[in-house]
Amino acid sequence: MNVLAPETVSLVDPELYATGDPHPVWRWMRDHDPVRRHEAGEYPAFWSVTRYEDVRTVYQDAKVFSSAQGILLRPRSHGRDPGGGRTLALTDPPRHKALRSLVADWFTTRSVRALEDAMRGAVRQVVTRAAGLGTCDFVTDVAARLPLYVICRLMGVPDHEQEMLFALTSRAFGAGEPEVRSVAHQEIMAYFVELMYRRMDRPEDDLVSALVNGEVDGELLTEEDILLNCDNLLVGGTENVRLAVAGGMKTFLDRPDAWERLRADRGLMPTAVEEVLRWTSSATHIMRTVTEPVMLRDRPLEAGDRVVLWTPSANRDERHFADPDLFDIARRPNRHLALGAGTHFCLGAMMTRTEMRILFTELLDSVRSIEQTGPAVPLSSIVVNGLESLPVRITAK
Ligand code: HEM
Repeated sequence: MNVLAPETVSLVDPELYATGDPHPVWRWMRDHDPVRRHEAGEYPAFWSVTRYEDVRTVYQDAKVFSSAQGILLRPRSHGRDPGGGRTLALTDPPRHKALRSLVADWFTTRSVRALEDAMRGAVRQVVTRAAGLGTCDFVTDVAARLPLYVICRLMGVPDHEQEMLFALTSRAFGAGEPEVRSVAHQEIMAYFVELMYRRMDRPEDDLVSALVNGEVDGELLTEEDILLNCDNLLVGGTENVRLAVAGGMKTFLDRPDAWERLRADRGLMPTAVEEVLRWTSSATHIMRTVTEPVMLRDRPLEAGDRVVLWTPSANRDERHFADPDLFDIARRPNRHLALGAGTHFCLGAMMTRTEMRILFTELLDSVRSIEQTGPAVPLSSIVVNGLESLPVRITAK
């Protein structure tokens, strides 16, 4: 693989992810400057952490590396993250634990198992519909649908309102103009306000009711906290799965031998899913803020410093993975960091793995062929990476 000194390329330029290749830059940083200082510009100053071991060290110390001031780089002009100290992902212990235990029941192995049949049914419909379309966009017509269906079920969105929410999320997180996206996002929030009041009136067995009625430190959550958490669950629960599934499919389309190997040996599904997660590493970066002076490798970090963990870099670290640039569906061991680690380890991890297994299994079982019919379009973002669209023709058996 090429290596590229970062002087010539900016990791905070979204175009790098849309039209370039950040991996040579990350490789250079892992080799030469694994905890690298970036001076303030459009974004505040921060340290880039690119090696697996260092990323894990930061994840595992929630006391020194806090999430409460945000977990994503924000342009300086945007000010503080409104979710800071309020949503699950942006809360530090001990409040974090209380908040997580309010919603954790919906994500246990037992809860996920209970949803499996419904997921299979939903996936069958999605794949049948996509095959009926002739050509379609794998991202919006296939990959985006199962995770949204699942999160809607968990949150208690009635079946007849799911298609409307799907249309809104496609607009809010799609490629459109910023204005269109922002309006769609406001409509999603307005929808959750409605749903929240319905659940205040008549609680049900769902996540929104849990947030509405649950207490943290003896107090009910504020309405704004409930909404921010709903929004985070919706985005967290849909965006990354969509990107991992679509990125995985594109990788299989480029490597038909790997797809055929999986078809022939379904016992490889668990390791294949892990490899797709490692390979796609859709959460491009996660940020922490230092709470007290600390050394990271040979770098002295001060309280208030921002530390940016580049997930795709950690997951291609040659110090940790044998042959990291090889897509190997039988890879073992594969303790990747695509879902984070430590206190904030992805709450939807089990759900994600199950969704991916069910979707890839259905595609192998009921589809004769999947052909790419046009160029894949990568996202332009420093937050998540993957495909915005992937035109395909799906032919049923
Ligand atoms: C491929 C799919 C996914 C990826 C790559 C992913 C990635 C991540 C990562 C890296 C974190 C750690 C954030 C941090 O440490 O600051 C995280 C946390 C989280 N994820 Fe996921 N995620 C995925 C799917 C899901 C799904 C399906 C859900 C919900 C249905 C979900 C809900 C959450 C929540 C609530 C947190 C915060 C947990 C906490 O702070 O305690 N994620 N995810």
